[in-house]
Amino acid sequence: MMGKPSNGPNTALLLFLLQCLFLRADSGDYQESSTEMTSRRFRAEFLQEWQGSDAPYFDPSTPRNITGLVGHPVRLLCRVKNLQNRTVSWVRHRDIHLLTVGRYTYTSDQRFEAQHKPRSEEWALRIRSPQRRDSGQYECQISTTPPIGHAVFLNIVEPETTISSGAELFIQKGSTINLTCTVRHTPEPPTSITWTHGEQVINFDSARGGISLVTEKGLKSTSRLLVQRARASDAGVYTCGPNNAPPANTRVHVLSGEHPAAMQQGCATSSLELSAAVLSFLIIFSIKIPYCLNEQFVT
Ligand SMILES: *[C@@H]1O[C@H](CO)[C@@H](O)[C@H](O)[C@H]1NC(C)=O
Ligand SMILES: *[C@@H]1O[C@H](CO)[C@@H](O)[C@H](O)[C@H]1NC(C)=O
Ligand SMILES: *[C@@H]1O[C@H](CO)[C@@H](O)[C@H](O)[C@H]1NC(C)=O
Repeated sequence: MMGKPSNGPNTALLLFLLQCLFLRADSGDYQESSTEMTSRRFRAEFLQEWQGSDAPYFDPSTPRNITGLVGHPVRLLCRVKNLQNRTVSWVRHRDIHLLTVGRYTYTSDQRFEAQHKPRSEEWALRIRSPQRRDSGQYECQISTTPPIGHAVFLNIVEPETTISSGAELFIQKGSTINLTCTVRHTPEPPTSITWTHGEQVINFDSARGGISLVTEKGLKSTSRLLVQRARASDAGVYTCGPNNAPPANTRVHVLSGEHPAAMQQGCATSSLELSAAVLSFLIIFSIKIPYCLNEQFVT
């Protein structure tokens, strides 16, 4: 039968052993694994239960994974219940750097700031101008004995533009050039996404005709350019330029029948395949030859 923690030597011993285990886990390296997170959660819940209802714990609604944009303020939030006279700190895992203690910003890096409203349960770490290198694991800690922690992963991303075809697109004369440009991680959807062919801005009403553009804006914005019945003059570099993200480009090659570009590509591939075939041939032989020789000597 299990008693309350204060009752009997058995329970006291059990608690002591468990605390030793937890202290060992704390002295280990700071690589976060899911088992460690589970054990942390277990520890928080366990201590909460065994130390009585007044022990502090993390509100389960505390986010574990935050995505922020380069240069835009981001907040890591920690919600703590029953804190009483304990202190909440934020620690960066990468270098085990103490960033905040209570309402006090401890680090000399001016971009970090402890944020807390009196009597609220929220203890936030604000990063004024985050950079890519700020990505990684952070931990909100409560100064219990042993301390308990809640890991938060911060992911700092940059605006990014990509074109579906990659760097190059090979198509047959007369078929449709189909390019999709995707814009991600911008503070708000781009107000414009401009396509250019060489130096020329592409318009629906350009003399070329047969051009269509479909743009969808959202968390992830896309712009699809379709050029019908491709001709030789449609070849060249196409650039997709959102107003609030870097441009991306692709080179389109229009192949007329059995003409050069395709042949060159085909040759390059087959000569590669050929050398691979020669190589495996040699490997097979280098293994087989001694075997054959041995056989000859034996017979
Ligand atoms: C955090 O979220 C990002 C995107 O929202 C995802 O790519 C990443 O895998 C997540 N990381 C963890 C540790 O859950
Ligand atoms: C918090 O208060 C308890 C009594 O309620 C006391 O035993 C403990 O030392 C205090 N801790 C700190 C860090 O002040
Ligand atoms: C263009 O390509 C996308 C996939 O990248 C495809 O879903 C779409 O149907 C294509 N449109 C045309 C007209 O071929």
